[in-house]
Amino acid sequence: MDDWKVANPGKPVGEGGRQMVQRMNDSHKPLRDWAFSFLEWKHAMWILDVGCGGGAAIYEMLRLSKDSMVHGIDYSADCVAAASEYNAPDLYFRAFIEEGDVGALPYDADKFDLVTAVETVYFWPDLSAGMKQILRVLKPGGTFAILCEVDGPERMDWDKVNFDIKVYRPEELKELLEQIGFVDVETHVKENGYMLVTGKK
Ligand SMILES: C[S@@+](CC[C@H](N)C(=O)[O-])C[C@H]1O[C@@H](n2cnc3c(N)ncnc32)[C@H](O)[C@@H]1O
Repeated sequence: MDDWKVANPGKPVGEGGRQMVQRMNDSHKPLRDWAFSFLEWKHAMWILDVGCGGGAAIYEMLRLSKDSMVHGIDYSADCVAAASEYNAPDLYFRAFIEEGDVGALPYDADKFDLVTAVETVYFWPDLSAGMKQILRVLKPGGTFAILCEVDGPERMDWDKVNFDIKVYRPEELKELLEQIGFVDVETHVKENGYMLVTGKK
């Protein structure tokens, strides 16, 4: 069995986990490139990447928003280490990477202009609780962006692996975001299944 099927992408740990998130830094680039082109990038944004894995989204967003401050959070200490290494030149200047769970975000209310979640919502045990936390830490008018490589379970080819995963459809995410209080919710789906769902506070 391939390495990536043995390690758990829902919580990459150990040397195998670090190698996995390094690979995902590259393999998720086409998804990020596609989805980030829909988002509005201004100067000096406060940004949070939830489930930041190996840190490539943090690196790219530091460059998409000049003079931004970009936080990353992940509940795997090994991911925090990998993302910190990836962003070493910016660390503690413009990049801040913490260990923590999306269900209990350690940030003040109304802090961020943009919160991103790249290939991670599948693994959150309580998606509503995570969304509520993100709504809390967003500034009024701020955007939450959910990026997924697949827009439904039939696209998912990880079915033979042994970890909990829930694959959402765009309309499910839209409905949930609206229930929680997000407004101007938009969905974008690419023909290959890439999905971006955004909502504003
Ligand atoms: C498939 S990886 C994606 C990593 C990275 N976002 C990327 O696109 O390469 C999923 C990431 O979400 C993190 N994660 C999953 N559930 C989480 C939670 N409840 N709180 C914080 N991080 C979580 C995992 O530790 C892992 O790093």
